[in-house]
Amino acid sequence: MAKRVLSVVGARPNFMKIAPIHRAFEALDGEVAHGIVHTGQHYDAVMSDAFFEDLQMPAPVAFLGVGSGSHARQTAAILVAFEEVLLDQRPDLVLVAGDVNSTVACALAATKLGVPVGHVEAGLRSFDRAMPEEINRMATDAISDYAFVTEPSGLQHLAREGWDPAKVHFIGNPMIDSQRYALETAPPSPVLRDLGLTPGGYVLVTLHRPSNVDDEAQLSALVDVLVELAAERQVVLPLHPRTRGRLEGFGLLPRLEGAEGVVLSPPQGYLRFLALQQHADFVITDSGGVQEETTALQVPCLTCRTTTERPITCSLGTNTLVDPDPAALRVAIQATLSGPRKVGKIPPLWDGQAATRLARIVVEDIL
Ligand code: UD1
Ligand code: UDP
Repeated sequence: MAKRVLSVVGARPNFMKIAPIHRAFEALDGEVAHGIVHTGQHYDAVMSDAFFEDLQMPAPVAFLGVGSGSHARQTAAILVAFEEVLLDQRPDLVLVAGDVNSTVACALAATKLGVPVGHVEAGLRSFDRAMPEEINRMATDAISDYAFVTEPSGLQHLAREGWDPAKVHFIGNPMIDSQRYALETAPPSPVLRDLGLTPGGYVLVTLHRPSNVDDEAQLSALVDVLVELAAERQVVLPLHPRTRGRLEGFGLLPRLEGAEGVVLSPPQGYLRFLALQQHADFVITDSGGVQEETTALQVPCLTCRTTTERPITCSLGTNTLVDPDPAALRVAIQATLSGPRKVGKIPPLWDGQAATRLARIVVEDIL
């Protein structure tokens, strides 16, 4: 009988990491029965359903419907609900991806039942314990059985933490598999026309880190910087629900809505957002995944954070870390508008084949 692998998705950045893994298992022609479990951490159609369609993922075999909550409530709800799925489906391996609450909760539920766990995107570290994601990354790695690593820094961190090298696999970046696949197969996106943009004529911005958007003074300062930038270059801002909520709560939304040159939009689907990145003059973000995707597209990116867990995007790619202090951000923006652009290289093994490598390792070495 085919061995059974369950992969977990929950929040937006999980879908593009698991979609190519599903495709790679399907290509093995029945050797592995692969199912996707959706925790429901993200649930708005634009934060969830849209990705199943754009990334051609099958419906989940289980939907846990946990929704939003405090860290403890959300993580606990996922733990309880995923345990039932595990008892029902008895998988031979569980794969979790990235660093969200769904990742650590499902890894913990599985390992406590003796189900082996593979962590996709293991070993990344920002060394900033104030980030909820850093806690999730460290905890997930501490209880996982197999590590699938996207960049060399991950190998170094796991070696230092005492991992058996036989359990650590440098596979490249499944998120970039999704990007390559979409660039090769998707029809041209109408998003620029829909939003009234011209290629190279706008700056794409995404912000959702609690450190940037949950603090009123910080968010207000960032809004000021973006409004100033919009006087020179159109600023396209697809709003994450957390960010929209904070802008509304702090009364900052009217400042953006009233600013000439600011194009506000709901979160965009994967293919539309890919086109927005591809044709942006440059990108300003605090997202983890967007740092990697802009590097793979060789589009300049300013990351509004003091640390990154994805240092290859700065050392080799087109990413630059910018202190989120507004003065520093203004300087970096002006330098990017007027100066030479960072020219990047594609990181090792970001070649569209990461998921195929993972599936082969799972079949040959793990199951
Ligand atoms: C989560 C991840 C973060 C990741 C981000 C990707 C954790 C701890 N955080 O942050 O690492 O970078 O997803 O996007 O796992 N909301 C909606 N609709 C939704 C989802 C959320 O309205 O579909 C609102 C709710 O008010 C919710 C808030 O957004 O309370 C935050 O959602 P949550 O999943 O807790 O954290 P994110 O900020 O999305
Ligand atoms: N993304 C998207 N639409 C958007 C913003 C982002 O499809 O409006 C995609 C982006 O291309 C990347 C992923 O979402 O694949 C990154 O997720 P996010 O920034 O929410 O989380 P992080 O990577 O910071 O955890």
